[in-house]
Amino acid sequence: MVKLINFKWQQLILSLGCLLLIIGCQSLYPTTNPDAKPLKVATDPTFVPFEFQTADGKLEGFDIDLMNAIAKVAGFAIQFESLPFDGMISTLQAKRVDGAISGITITAERLKTIAFSRPYFKAGLAMSTTGYAYAVREDNQNIKDFNSLKGKKIAVQIGSTGADFAKTISNAKISTFNSGPEFFQDLLNGNVDAVVSDAFATLYAIKNGKLKGIRVVADLLTQEYYGIAMPKDSPHLDAINKGIATLLSNGTYKQIYQKWFDAEPPQLPDS
Ligand code: ARG
Repeated sequence: MVKLINFKWQQLILSLGCLLLIIGCQSLYPTTNPDAKPLKVATDPTFVPFEFQTADGKLEGFDIDLMNAIAKVAGFAIQFESLPFDGMISTLQAKRVDGAISGITITAERLKTIAFSRPYFKAGLAMSTTGYAYAVREDNQNIKDFNSLKGKKIAVQIGSTGADFAKTISNAKISTFNSGPEFFQDLLNGNVDAVVSDAFATLYAIKNGKLKGIRVVADLLTQEYYGIAMPKDSPHLDAINKGIATLLSNGTYKQIYQKWFDAEPPQLPDS
């Protein structure tokens, strides 16, 4: 009888010990689960200064810095995966990646099939509220505004909001390209009359000398916001949104913005 009671006490002490050990370990790793797989995040690194590859193949850009900073505050690891822009939405739908950051504009159409984080970037010219730029060759004086694009040859990136916009220009002959730098090359070669694409990326490329001979026709159209894209019902949506909120309030967002754009970031809406 006495032996039996002793045995039970031993068991109880042992179980209590285990419990304490488990609680102790959990509080050592409050947000990070060391066994969790890194999040696979797709990006199309042909979009300076948001995502691009350096000569030695390193990924860089505003989006890359932001995503890494979100991962740090949210406590998860990331594995970037390069993917052509055109395939991004369907890859997310098929849940082959956990997310995508690629200067992706939040649109009602895209929201039908995928989810977006809260807006993380106001796209458009620094001080105005516009989204696209028409880029033309410097020596082309005929294209002055939206109306003069009618019937012209226009280059766009496949699957982009710029491509959707080009479809609304009457009689335009549209050529589609898989990546940004290619369509600017076509413009320089005189194969097309204009490029319709994101204003920030176009202006940055022109300013940094890579697109000599191209100017932006400063008649701009819509306002866009970029969001981090995820599959519908993503379990990571909440952590990513909280991460963005933290970076906006602790000054990190501003730091990253100034590093790439040398300007004060504009106010962003919550949703
Ligand atoms: N903002 C445009 C869109 O969402 C173009 C983005 C292109 N991004 C890229 N990494 N190529 O359609």
